[in-house]
Amino acid sequence: MKDKVTIHTLKRLKQSGQKICMVTAYDATFARILDEGGADVLLVGDSLGMVIQGQESTLPVTMDQMVYHSAAVSRGAKRAHVVGDLPFMSYQVSPHEAVRNAGRLVAEGNVGSVKLEGGAEFADTVRAIVRASIPVMGHLGLTPQSVHKMGGYVVQGRDEDAARRMLDDALALEEAGAYALVLEGVPLELARTITQSLKIPTIGIGAGKHCDGQVLVCYDLLGMNPDFKPKFVKRFANLHGNITEAAGTFFSEVRAGTFPDEDHSFKANKNVRLVAATPVGPGVVDAPAEGAEKVGAIYGAPV
Ligand code: KIV
Repeated sequence: MKDKVTIHTLKRLKQSGQKICMVTAYDATFARILDEGGADVLLVGDSLGMVIQGQESTLPVTMDQMVYHSAAVSRGAKRAHVVGDLPFMSYQVSPHEAVRNAGRLVAEGNVGSVKLEGGAEFADTVRAIVRASIPVMGHLGLTPQSVHKMGGYVVQGRDEDAARRMLDDALALEEAGAYALVLEGVPLELARTITQSLKIPTIGIGAGKHCDGQVLVCYDLLGMNPDFKPKFVKRFANLHGNITEAAGTFFSEVRAGTFPDEDHSFKANKNVRLVAATPVGPGVVDAPAEGAEKVGAIYGAPV
């Protein structure tokens, strides 16, 4: 295994002009695959509210849910640095609550850093979390937790005043100790100015090519949802098509009686005498007989 990515690796990548590759992950299986695919950073995004839970926004996502998904992703990640999103209302009320909740993501979710949305108004919060030895990634521009304030998911920083404010916010977050910044839904010229003005790396999503790295929601880049295709998303696969096709083939074979065939079935030992089964009890698995064929967990199989 290559060396584990840390916040210091990310800084070095910016200094050497190498792009940072970040992607969201929400469970251990995807984390393992994306890690093997070469991700530098796995973000346990509160976008899980939409893509996992089917909510309309990230606002209903809770701390307990973020801890649960962060722990799963951390188990799957070998090389990548894992970042956990602080969900809506977990850090806005006070720096004190923010530190406690960031601490939960690290202690229970096993993440290497946390991310929060907002600018200079959260500089004290960032400072407090960093003081607790928890690295913080900032998030500026289109910040989904402020959907009601923004009046929808709209590109931010298009006029000069808004652009100036965002640059000031970026400088304030860097000064407060943030180790990196996500820039979301930002004109590429502004993202370039911010990126050139900071020592810490910027990671863009809908912010153009000048950022120090890029992030996408894994379900978007893998083409899981044919109904969601904003301008900034590029589909690098068509998993929706692959999955519906694979599942459709499975269903057809079941209906036709061609699955399972002999290759996918177990055979009794020649000398087995059939007796009426005695259920061991719900959730209790009988010890396997010596030399028994190991098949792994059979999910949902009655015992
Ligand atoms: O929640 C999320 O997935 C994010 C990324 C889109 C940056 O914050």
